[in-house]
Order: sequence, then C-alpha cells, then structure tokens
Amino acid sequence: MSSPLEDAAHAVAHGRCVIASTGAGISAESGIPTFRGDSGIWKKYPPEKFATIQAYLANPLEVWGFWVEIGREMAACKPNAAHVAIAEMESQKHLHAVVTQNVDSLHQTAGSQRVIEYHGNVRRLVCTRCRHQEPVDLTNPPKLPPHCPCGIVMRPDIVMFGEYIPEGPMHEAAALAEKCDVMIIVGTSAQVYPAADLPFIAKQHGAFIIESNIEETDFTSEITDAFLCGAAGETLPSLAKRVRELS
Ligand code: OAD
Repeated sequence: MSSPLEDAAHAVAHGRCVIASTGAGISAESGIPTFRGDSGIWKKYPPEKFATIQAYLANPLEVWGFWVEIGREMAACKPNAAHVAIAEMESQKHLHAVVTQNVDSLHQTAGSQRVIEYHGNVRRLVCTRCRHQEPVDLTNPPKLPPHCPCGIVMRPDIVMFGEYIPEGPMHEAAALAEKCDVMIIVGTSAQVYPAADLPFIAKQHGAFIIESNIEETDFTSEITDAFLCGAAGETLPSLAKRVRELS
C-alpha cells in the first residue's frame, strides 16, 4: 500500500544518488531554536543588527557576543535521532552526502562523513581580509573578536545576510543537486536563497523529492513527491528503518 513513508523508503532504497538538504528544523529537537517564527532567533535578534558584515564592523563587540553565545549554546547540544538516521543511511551506502544550512556541526558529531556546510560553521573564524581560518574554542571563547596574524579582525565563518556562499560549497552543492536522483529536504522553511534553489534544481533534473517538516512549505505543493509530516526526530528514523528493511 502506498503512503508517503513507503514511497520515500522505496525511492531511497533504490536510489542511485541520494542527497539530504537540511535546515534549522533538524536541530530543533536537539534544543537549538530555529530562525523564523515567533520563538525564532531572528525575532529576538533582528538579523540586520546581528547578522550582516556591516553590523559586525560597526559594532563588533555586540555582534561577536551574539555569535559566541549562539555558538556556545550549539556546542552544548547533541545530535538527535534525525541526525543519527541520516548518518546511518550514509554508512549503509543509501545516502551520498548532506548539504546543510546549519552551522552547528551536529551532522558531523552524529557520524556523517560527507557534509557540505553551505552557510559556514560557528566553530570557525575567518579573517575579513585574507580569508585565513582558525578554529574557536566555544567553551572558552575570547571576550573580544580575535585578530588574524595579518593584523585584521576575524569574524565567525558564517554566511551573513547579503553575502555570497563560499565558492567550494556552492559548486559542490549545485553539482550534487544536479546529479542526485533523490533529495531528502529536512526542516527548512524554503525562505533563504540560494539554499532554497537546490531542491528546485534537483527536481528540474528529475529527482524524487522527499520533504520532512512539521508544516508545509513552498516546496510542498510545488515539488515535493513524498511529504513526511512531523518532527524529523520521528520521521527520519522511520524512514531509515524502512529503507533497511527494503534492502
Ligand atoms: P528556519 O528557521 O527558517 O525554518 C525552520 C524550519 O524547520 C521550518 O520550516 C519549521 O517548520 C521546521 N521545523 C521546526 N521544527 C522541526 C522538526 N522538529 N522537524 C522538522 N522540521 C521542523 O530555518 P532555515 O530554513 O534553516 O542562515 O533557515 C535558513 C537560514 O536562515 C539559516 O541557515 C540561517 C538563517 O538566516 C544563517 O544564519 C547564515
């Protein structure tokens, strides 16, 4: 009998190249708030004040403090059953890669090997001039934004509003979207581009689109083939289990 879960599991089990594309919703059950909605991060901290390079350069202390606090909260969280299900499908050769908009490293902590960080990572700093990168210890972060050996102030290695996606992840993600025959979209509101283009690119190239979310998005009526309605911490383990049974 056909159901969204059954259709999704067959697609993954028989897929040639299966990609996951994840957003903040996958980490919600780990205790990390999402960005949009009434209890979203941007409601309390407007992005124009905390997530643009102009705001950082104009007010480095406050914006640095915000990202350190967010990073500290993220570093204290653990992967949930959805991250684990994605890592498991990869280890069982059913999933090729994860493209994530998240900056929290939870896919890597769960064991995912091929993770494309589309929006950067809060545990890394990058020089605003020479692009030199350094890790930052979020358990004991510097009180002031550190300086690069080249003398210029560093910033969290995060794609802020109005900025381009770094070339490496942008090209890798686009190539995967074109190549995959199944894409599993998890916990993203479809509001932020170019990340939200990836499922459309996949669909244009003939991919079967699975979407896991607690509510419908712009993807759902336009391109989704199997909508797994509910918390990702429940729907993705069910998907992984059924894929295992079919294999
Ligand atoms: P949003 O906060 O915009 O959307 C989160 C999505 O997750 C919504 O569609 C929710 O319905 C869904 N959701 C919430 N809990 C869920 C759960 N337990 N299971 C499944 N889905 C759930 O987050 P993103 O779409 O990731 O950029 O936002 C994209 C980008 O906007 C972020 O990467 C961030 C932000 O500006 C940067 O910080 C660079």
